[in-house]
Amino acid sequence: MKLTGTTLVLTGIIVILAVALIGTLIFVSNQPKPDRGIEPIVQIEEMEPDSSKWGVNFPNQYSTLQKTESNNTRTTFGGSEKFSKLEQDPRLLDLFAGYGFSLEYNEDRGHLNSLTDVRAIKRVNEKTPGTCYSCKSSDNPRLWTEMGMAEFDKTLFKDLGKDINEPIGCANCHEANTMRLIVTNPALEEALKAQGKDWRTFTRQEMRTVVCANCHVEYYFAGDGKYLTYPWADGTDIDSIAKYYAELGFNDWEHPQSGAAMIKMQHPEYELFTADSTHYKAGVACADCHMPYTRDGSAKFSTHDVHSPLLNAETACGACHTDVGYVTSRVATIQQQVRGTMDSSEDAIIAAIKAIEAAAATPEVNADLLAEARDMHREAQLRWDFIAAENSMGFHNPEEALRILAAATDLARQAQLKAVQAAGTPTIIQTSSQ
Ligand code: HEC
Ligand code: HEC
Ligand code: HEC
Ligand code: HEC
Repeated sequence: MKLTGTTLVLTGIIVILAVALIGTLIFVSNQPKPDRGIEPIVQIEEMEPDSSKWGVNFPNQYSTLQKTESNNTRTTFGGSEKFSKLEQDPRLLDLFAGYGFSLEYNEDRGHLNSLTDVRAIKRVNEKTPGTCYSCKSSDNPRLWTEMGMAEFDKTLFKDLGKDINEPIGCANCHEANTMRLIVTNPALEEALKAQGKDWRTFTRQEMRTVVCANCHVEYYFAGDGKYLTYPWADGTDIDSIAKYYAELGFNDWEHPQSGAAMIKMQHPEYELFTADSTHYKAGVACADCHMPYTRDGSAKFSTHDVHSPLLNAETACGACHTDVGYVTSRVATIQQQVRGTMDSSEDAIIAAIKAIEAAAATPEVNADLLAEARDMHREAQLRWDFIAAENSMGFHNPEEALRILAAATDLARQAQLKAVQAAGTPTIIQTSSQ
């Protein structure tokens, strides 16, 4: 009996140990995996517009994106303060006469302000097409998929607005869950296809630039349906774009003084940068300067606080350049040079506008020469505007910026001379004063 008692006690201990072991194993296997910042905690819906939901998995990217809302530091030619470009350079009132940009034209701000800013702008009215929401909201990828881009663009801005609640967010640049960078804007997909390119074959480094081309590009609204289109079929450099518009006979508005059919350029950062700039040729991407790797404790991630790299040059430029002071001083020199050259272009274009207006008012004016002068005004101004509407004051591609501005000034002076020929008298220059 003594033996049985011992056996019972031993069996009891073994059972207790076994239960404890099983319990421990179950407890351990139910513990969350160690967090290395890549393991998704929640599944994200495809094209989820709400960035805060993605933020559960990626708090660093989310919290840095949030910062773009309140950034307000100004730099010499850029920064995040919403100053009026018209107050800063009143010549724009003459250059954009008769067009919405002479009503209001502001410096760009951080990504999270996209929706507030587009809704506040005076250029928006009852007839504004939905197309104007194209680069402003993370609701778009879902809407483009559900309704198609043609329908999206056809819908009036005021009606589409009820389906648009979020500013720019994760869904504009990333595929949910895999987090790979993607083309979300159908207009970019189509523009690349027209050139025989498929972004799905691009390298990761290429996508770190191409993802910005979802929005930071020149575009126009084609046809009555205001279909968003990039003018890239002949190439993405300014001369190919100008040729494309000329062949299409496209114009945004007629200049009331010169009578020329005009084109307004929109933020062509991608086109200027990729026109063989030194950085582009060296394989540098937009994200290298605007979204540099940042450290927070043990986490290393791409900052999503996108803004002027001059505000964090140590991180933005320092990854590649040892002498950050030198390269930022080069930025200042380049930008001053481009601004000065741009001033001459603006003066020349305004002189052309006045000469053409005066020529048109002379009774014996030669209509063919006048038409040529108007065409030169258009060509001069779209070139100048390509650099003026681009947001880096030439830094993204200094040589190309100066080349284009020189061409613009030359075309404007030719337009002025053509107006004199059309009028048959140089007195129009005196009456037009420049
Ligand atoms: C080599 C670094 C570098 C690369 C690459 C680069 N940028 Fe920039 N970017 C700058 C600098 C410097 C400025 C000027 C900022 C200023 O004036 O405050 C700038 C200005 C801008 C601005 C205006 C910022 C402001 O403060 O208003 C935008 C928008 C922009 N870049 C977008 C892009 C896009 C899109 C690409 C790729 C197609 C790109 N950048 C590539 C350095 C870079
Ligand atoms: C304007 C485009 C854009 C938006 C908006 C955006 N990202 Fe990114 N994201 C990038 C780029 C560019 C990279 C760099 C990718 C690479 O190097 O392959 C990146 C990288 C990442 C990475 C990879 C790790 C890292 O930090 O490099 C994660 C995760 C990420 N983003 C999460 C998010 C989340 C979450 C949101 C929304 C809160 C978001 N992103 C919004 C462009 C964007
Ligand atoms: C979905 C469209 C979209 C995408 C994609 C996008 N941007 Fe923007 N970006 C905008 C808009 C719109 C603004 C202006 C917002 C405003 O002024 O309210 C802006 C503003 C900026 C600014 C100025 C910020 C400031 O504080 O002055 C920079 C710099 C910039 N973007 C760089 C980039 C870079 C680099 C990429 C690619 C990694 C990129 N953007 C991708 C739409 C986009
Ligand atoms: C990813 C790497 C990389 C980053 C980030 C980068 N650069 Fe560069 N930069 C280069 C390379 C490569 C060249 C060309 C080779 C050379 O001349 O050193 C270059 C050339 C230059 C030059 C021309 C040098 C000259 O001849 O005057 C300037 C200016 C410059 N960078 C400024 C900047 C500024 C300003 C920033 C930050 C906003 C920056 N770079 C960020 C890689 C980079």
